Amino acid sequence: MLDWLGADKSAPLTVEHPGTINTVIGCASCHVSQAEALDAVPFVSGVTVDGLGASATCTMCHQGRASTDTVLSATGGMDLDTVSPDLGFINVHYGVAAAMMHGADVRGGFQYPNLAYAGRFTHVPRAGTCVACHDPHTTEVKSEGCFACHQGVNKITAIRTRHADFNGDGTSSGGIITEIDGLHAILGDAITTYARKIADAPIGYAADRYPYFFNDSDNDGSIGPDEAIFPNRYATWTPRLLMAAYNYQVVAKDGGAWAHNPAYALQLLHDSIASLEERIEIDHGRLLRP
Ligand code: HEC
Ligand code: HEC
Ligand code: HEC
Ligand code: HEC
Repeated sequence: MLDWLGADKSAPLTVEHPGTINTVIGCASCHVSQAEALDAVPFVSGVTVDGLGASATCTMCHQGRASTDTVLSATGGMDLDTVSPDLGFINVHYGVAAAMMHGADVRGGFQYPNLAYAGRFTHVPRAGTCVACHDPHTTEVKSEGCFACHQGVNKITAIRTRHADFNGDGTSSGGIITEIDGLHAILGDAITTYARKIADAPIGYAADRYPYFFNDSDNDGSIGPDEAIFPNRYATWTPRLLMAAYNYQVVAKDGGAWAHNPAYALQLLHDSIASLEERIEIDHGRLLRP
């Protein structure tokens, strides 16, 4: 981080030297003058966001390692439903809160062409930046402040201000997180159904094992320890499957997506399901796009 900042006297915004393992983020990482002065951060898509102030350091690390652009350049010119040996899973990386919060402004999710996506979730000034919600040192969410505005809930995951039933389960009473979780599960079903029917090779997901998508060799609908190994990684990608799987992972890897940018998360999931359903059918209620 100090190298990237240029605090080691090397050029800023690039890393010149190999990292040293077993060193942690120390006080200096965020409190050297170069970090204190950091206000604008370039995202992987090439877009630079400025005016970040005390949240700039958080933003540089929590932005992920891929974007819409990465997925488009890997799949450009290919037929959407033809398996290509040139494709491999594109992993956004974990802890992608900043990419989620800035939404379409930085294109961290895979945005389907010709659809409009929510930009930064500006929320309210008191809860609109990383350090407004998170203590910068413990990283805990300062949740007391939330209830001043969001009344009538006893835990932050019950917060909801949009009242549509986005995931078609017939209820719109839980926190907005329940709509996101519901759509995420439907997308999981759509991915497995598409893989079986169109790519002709069963797929499964293991949340804690790189590279996350594996061949479901025994076709039992889950990935066991013997299947979650690198040589068994899923390798039968069509562009359409890759795009949907990319978004599945983007939402999976931001456990705070419901607070960081619920509209963007819902849109990515909704559109990924709709894309797969151009080729397959799965059972669910009527889905809505925010
Ligand atoms: C991930 C970045 C990060 C790291 C690492 C970090 N700080 Fe901070 N620190 C911040 C931010 C952000 C603020 C708030 C600045 C603001 O609001 O303008 C802050 C504020 C402070 C303050 C001002 C008083 C306060 O609590 O608000 C002190 C003192 C401080 N940090 C000391 C430390 C020490 C000592 C360490 C190492 C043990 C450390 N910090 C590590 C980001 C960091
Ligand atoms: C140098 C890179 C870096 C910076 C700067 C950074 N983080 Fe992180 N952060 C990480 C990594 C890596 C993890 C995951 C650690 C792990 O899983 O062991 C993480 C984890 C977290 C978590 C999850 C903690 C948990 O208990 O699961 C939160 C919340 C978080 N960071 C918020 C912030 C905020 C807010 C800032 C800015 C004040 C910040 N981070 C700055 C790299 C960074
Ligand atoms: C509106 C308040 C709010 C803002 C703004 C916010 N966060 Fe969060 N963040 C949360 C909540 C709430 C959670 C979920 C915490 C939980 O489940 O305990 C969370 C979770 C996280 C996590 C853990 C995600 C996981 O997978 O477990 C990280 C990392 C994180 N935030 C980083 C950031 C960074 C970096 C920013 C700025 C780009 C940011 N947050 C902005 C409220 C916020
Ligand atoms: C100053 C008042 C205020 C505070 C403080 C506040 N919020 Fe909000 N929150 C709002 C308003 C207003 C909206 C609707 C904003 C919009 O849709 O653009 C909202 C929307 C949300 C949403 C989106 C819900 C949905 O259905 O899409 C979530 C999640 C949320 N807030 C979580 C939090 C959390 C977590 C905190 C505390 C860390 C917090 N809020 C603090 C006023 C506040």
